[in-house]
Amino acid sequence: MNQHTRLQSIPFIDVAAQRKRLGKSLDEAVARVLGHCQFLGGPEIAQLEAELAAFSGVRHVVTCSSGTDALLMVLMAKGVGPGDAVLCPSFTFCATGEAVALTGATPVFVDVDEATFNMDATSLARAIATARKLGLKPKAVIPVDLFGQSADHDAIGAVAAGEGLFVLDDAAQGFGASYKGRRLGTFGLATATSFFPAKPLGCFGDGGAIFTDDAELAATLRSVRAHGQGFDKYDNVRLGLTARLDTVQAAVLIEKLKIFDDEIEARNRLAERYSRGLGNVVTVPRLAVGCSSVWAQYTIRLPKGTDRDGFAAALKAQGVPTAIYYPKSMHQQTAYRHFPVAEGGLAVSEELSGDVISLPMHAYLDEATQDRIIAAVRGAVS
Ligand SMILES: Cc1ncc(COP(=O)(O)O)c(C=O)c1O
Repeated sequence: MNQHTRLQSIPFIDVAAQRKRLGKSLDEAVARVLGHCQFLGGPEIAQLEAELAAFSGVRHVVTCSSGTDALLMVLMAKGVGPGDAVLCPSFTFCATGEAVALTGATPVFVDVDEATFNMDATSLARAIATARKLGLKPKAVIPVDLFGQSADHDAIGAVAAGEGLFVLDDAAQGFGASYKGRRLGTFGLATATSFFPAKPLGCFGDGGAIFTDDAELAATLRSVRAHGQGFDKYDNVRLGLTARLDTVQAAVLIEKLKIFDDEIEARNRLAERYSRGLGNVVTVPRLAVGCSSVWAQYTIRLPKGTDRDGFAAALKAQGVPTAIYYPKSMHQQTAYRHFPVAEGGLAVSEELSGDVISLPMHAYLDEATQDRIIAAVRGAVS
């Protein structure tokens, strides 16, 4: 390998490789929408909703404009608002807690499990007690299937049921993964996902979807998605949003869903290779018993005392990009630090924010390139 090849930059996520694989089928799918001109509410929307329902094993799917809107729409449909508390992990993308705060309710932050990065059920129980002490009414829990791995839905569901809260699963990163043999989309009252282009199942812009077995909730969500419209289009019966998915995005997603299982398999193969190549130099991600992952991110923890910026710079010099998800947990961020946290604090979230770093991961990463990344990581920590 000459110097030029060695320094060639590796993409962190290669959206173009998938575009190339799908080629003409994507062009034709988009052309069909351009032909029928039903840019909103076209036939592809109902088709995609039916196919997503069949894929995940849920009764109703309501597509929408983004993962954030998917979360917000469920909270709005359930009437969550001022005086209510919604329990969220702090170590997550900001949209999880943001959707709660947008309703006027209070996000109460919960710590995560060190091995899986997902919500810790014992911290959840403490956070519910914290919310009650503050005079808030706990209404819902939003577990996150972080980096693609399913959260511990049995443990979280048991705490939520015991406290009379509903569960809204944030599967923006985990759609396609399963828990104890059941696909995400089927846990709790509802599940939200995102089709942001870099997600395991992404479209060519913003998009999202909500999954639920509750027919009444699905009907309310369809109303919220279109300004709260009722049976009479001009008699709006509740507050809502402009939160529809574009037909073009649905057409793209129908094509991508055809290869999604194959891509999930590839991501799992690559994750295993990373773990074999790196397991003795850094802390590699661990799948909990009964959980699978779609590896939205492959996130390692650096040995104590490692200079993370220096590590990232050493990899960058070799053409290997990295990303830090998340350098600050939500309760450490300016817009959210005034919200309450679970009694006992969020030590694990804070520690993870200090030492995690994510490596390139996508279904089209070839083994030679992955070996280059593994060698660069090993060199940088030794
Ligand atoms: C955990 C999580 N929740 C919610 C979202 C929001 O999704 P969107 O960007 O489609 O609004 C994201 C997006 O990155 C996410 O990672």
